[in-house]
Amino acid sequence: MFKVAIGSDHAGYPLKEKIRAYLEQKGIEYIDCGAFSLESCDYAVYAKKTCEKVLSGEAKFGILCCGTGVGISIAANKVAGIRAANCGDYFSAKYTRLHNDANILCLGARVIGDGLACELVDVFLSTNFEGGERHIRRISQITAIEKGDL
Ligand code: RB5
Repeated sequence: MFKVAIGSDHAGYPLKEKIRAYLEQKGIEYIDCGAFSLESCDYAVYAKKTCEKVLSGEAKFGILCCGTGVGISIAANKVAGIRAANCGDYFSAKYTRLHNDANILCLGARVIGDGLACELVDVFLSTNFEGGERHIRRISQITAIEKGDL
């Protein structure tokens, strides 16, 4: 079974804790990259720590939470090799795996409820990349942007 790296800032911390408990309940192993309290902190730091776990292969996926899911997704998407999707609906969480092969799910703790967040985690972790020439080509273009080739 794969591992999941989880991370948040202070605003995302309560949701990260819910997700941590949810993963534990489902028997999914996780690496908690912090934050570990409600004390004010900076989302980019925790985005980077979590991305590193995914890029190293220690974790197959990452889940990041901040207030909106936006700041932490912007930060994560600056890391080459990371495709972070900020999702607040089931369809996006499913299709970002099917079409974008997203490796990090971002969630807005001040935007969505805990129940929906857990549903999004479920579908994200259980949906495989669809593959196929057109999706692979588009993802390769994202990689080309990272390398300055597009
Ligand atoms: C923190 O107050 C908040 O700005 C942060 O969690 C996030 O929502 C930023 O995008």
